[in-house]
Amino acid sequence: MSDAQERKALLGPYVTLDGPDGCGKSSQASALAAWLAEEDVDVVHVREPGSTPVGEALRDLLLSNATGDLQPITEVLLFSAARAELMQRVIAPARARGAVVVAERCYLSTAVYQILATENPQPGVLDIRWFEDLTRRVHGACLPDAIFVLDVSADVSMQRRGNRVDDRIEARGEAYHRRVRDGYLLAAEREPRAHVFDSAKPFDVVQEQLRAVIRSLL
Ligand code: TYD
Repeated sequence: MSDAQERKALLGPYVTLDGPDGCGKSSQASALAAWLAEEDVDVVHVREPGSTPVGEALRDLLLSNATGDLQPITEVLLFSAARAELMQRVIAPARARGAVVVAERCYLSTAVYQILATENPQPGVLDIRWFEDLTRRVHGACLPDAIFVLDVSADVSMQRRGNRVDDRIEARGEAYHRRVRDGYLLAAEREPRAHVFDSAKPFDVVQEQLRAVIRSLL
C-alpha cells in the first residue's frame, strides 16, 4: 500500500444522504446515527448547510423567506462556503480520529438545486465543470465514500412535506421540484459514489439497505 492509500484506510467512512425535499433523509440519517452509536461506533451526524457556526448562519440566510431571490451563482458560493467550513472544521477532523460521518446533503445538492434544476441558466455563469473544480478545492482529499440518493417522485415528496410552512427553496413550486427529482437521477448516473434507493419503500426497508452499504465500509 502507498502512504496515501494507508492514510485513507485509517480514515473513518463518510456517507451522505441526499435527495429531493421530503425524501426522508433526515429521519434515515438520525436512525443510522442511533444504530451506529448503539453499536459503540464513534459517529458524527451533520447537516448541510450547517453544523458549524458560520454554516448555521448561512443556513438561516439561505432558507429564510425574508432573503428573497438570490442569483444562482450566489447560492452556489454560499452553500459551498458553508461546506468548506464543515469540511475543514468538523468532517476532516472526525474522520482523522476514525469516526464515521453521517451527513445530510453534500455537493450533489448544489449540483442539482442550483445548476441542473435552474431554468434558463445564464450562459457562461453556472457551469458544471467550474462547480466541480470549486468542489475539489472545498473538499480537498476529504470526499464522501458513498452518497445515498433517496429517490421519491415530486408527488410523494409534496405529500410528505404536508402542511409544513415552505422555506425559501421549498417554496419554488412544483415544476422546480420536478426538475430537482430528474436532476438527482441524472447526476447520480454521472457520480461514481452515488447509490440510488427507492425511498417510497417502507422506512425500515430503506434503512436496512443503507446499513448494508455502511457495514461494507466499516
Ligand atoms: P433540508 O436539508 O432538506 O432541511 P429540512 O429537512 O430542514 O428542510 O433543507 C435544506 C434546503 O436547502 C433544501 O431545500 C435543499 C437546499 N439546498 C440547496 O438548494 N443546495 C445545497 O447545496 C444544499 C446543501 C441544500
